[in-house]
Amino acid sequence: MSRQYVLAIDQGTTSSRAILFDREGRIVGTGQKELRQHFPKDGWVEHDPEDIWRDTLAVCRQAIHAAGVAATDIAAIGITNQRETTVLWERDTGSPVHNAIVWQDRRTAETCRELVADGIEERVRGRTGLVVDAYFSGTKLAWLLDHVPGARSAAEHGALAFGTVDSFLLWRLTGGRVHATDATNASRTMLFDIVEQTWDEELLRALRIPPSVLPEVRDCSGSFGIADPELFGAAIPILGIAGDQQAATIGQACFLPGMSKSTYGTGCFMLVNTGERFVASRNRLLTTVAYRLDGRTTYALEGSIFVAGAAVQWLRDGLGIIRSAAETEELARDLPDNEGVYLVPAFTGLGAPHWDPDARGAILGLTRDSGVAHIVRAALESVAYQTLDLVDAMTADMAAATLDGGLGGLRVDGGMVVNDWVCQFLADILNRPVERPAVVETTALGAAYLAGLAAGVYASLPAVAGAWRLERRFEPGLAPEQRERLVAGWRQAVRRVRS
Ligand code: G3P
Repeated sequence: MSRQYVLAIDQGTTSSRAILFDREGRIVGTGQKELRQHFPKDGWVEHDPEDIWRDTLAVCRQAIHAAGVAATDIAAIGITNQRETTVLWERDTGSPVHNAIVWQDRRTAETCRELVADGIEERVRGRTGLVVDAYFSGTKLAWLLDHVPGARSAAEHGALAFGTVDSFLLWRLTGGRVHATDATNASRTMLFDIVEQTWDEELLRALRIPPSVLPEVRDCSGSFGIADPELFGAAIPILGIAGDQQAATIGQACFLPGMSKSTYGTGCFMLVNTGERFVASRNRLLTTVAYRLDGRTTYALEGSIFVAGAAVQWLRDGLGIIRSAAETEELARDLPDNEGVYLVPAFTGLGAPHWDPDARGAILGLTRDSGVAHIVRAALESVAYQTLDLVDAMTADMAAATLDGGLGGLRVDGGMVVNDWVCQFLADILNRPVERPAVVETTALGAAYLAGLAAGVYASLPAVAGAWRLERRFEPGLAPEQRERLVAGWRQAVRRVRS
């Protein structure tokens, strides 16, 4: 029988996962491992790339073993990953010269302010679709070249390779034979021209990045090389790569302009497909590559929020007022209303559409009657209000771009959407339907689709779209005046935490 399984690697911020899918997109085996986090200074976040590699390999083997299939039955590997996180390694040995600088790391915020003062913003916006922010890889890579002893001269002599996590994993999987990435990951570096689909020379010069460190940029679905047979006991082709939010967009089958998905993990990332048009945002959203297939680029507008599920984690690990995330649903439901209590989770500043790195979190509106339930409810509600800020910005951008149809219903996924209360409140606040799919592992599924399309395991994008199944649709049901009152309270709370 021909090879019929696809192995998806999902290397995320807090965990590394591998899922083996069959031809019908069903999960047949999984592996997962928490990833060790390093916080060397306030605002700094790092990962050890050796942990990333070791964990990835372990979870792949775990998934294959759990499924009880032979490696020779696996048609392809697809990789999806935490985006922007920056790795720099020696070409000779494959050894990283420093820990990976994680997307959440703010150490280059000052560099970004200087770049803006130098007038780089317009070029960044126009070429990369991004805003100038420490979130993206460009200034992280510049920091490594400037701070790791000998790195700049080694890079100038062609001895170092830069990559986002996909690229580093690809290098390791292929035994150092392939230095490449895909267009979605490249689009998050602040160095890549997403219209021309080339590295932008002017931005490379401005950030003093030697072109020799850069990976080759390929389509999301197609050949990325062959995994070393020593690793899994058979030579498996690597046929798909996409950043995790783009992979989720594919897993959610958002293939038509106006279709959108929002993923609630550590943060929240909402993408709306804008088709073959680069829609420049007038509302401080990002323009990004949704996917590139057969040389054709599909674009998206993206809103990135840094804290969503992380707020619930904070309730558990920071405040210690809940034991598990599962408790939050009942606590929130037990209150008739938020009773004026708001939590703005600006722990690491505010992302889109505010982009305020200096804002800090706050709980507002407390009275003597406020208790644990109020704080829990306020944390959950904050996720919906932040999504509303994105939806409003997207709706305005799409109207300005006269994109036919506008924004449709929202497909949701990620750890938080198992919470029915959150999904219902989201529909109420957005005043639009929220759709939860049957398969919520959309990120891994998207990577599997990309690899499986190239391997012939999955037939076509329309076939993938046809396989998407709704589990539950949440309809908006809040009275307009109640909604307006809640949203006005949120807006006021955000104004009070802005720097
Ligand atoms: O842009 C950052 C994003 O890709 C991280 O996603 O799921 O690893 O928190 P996640």
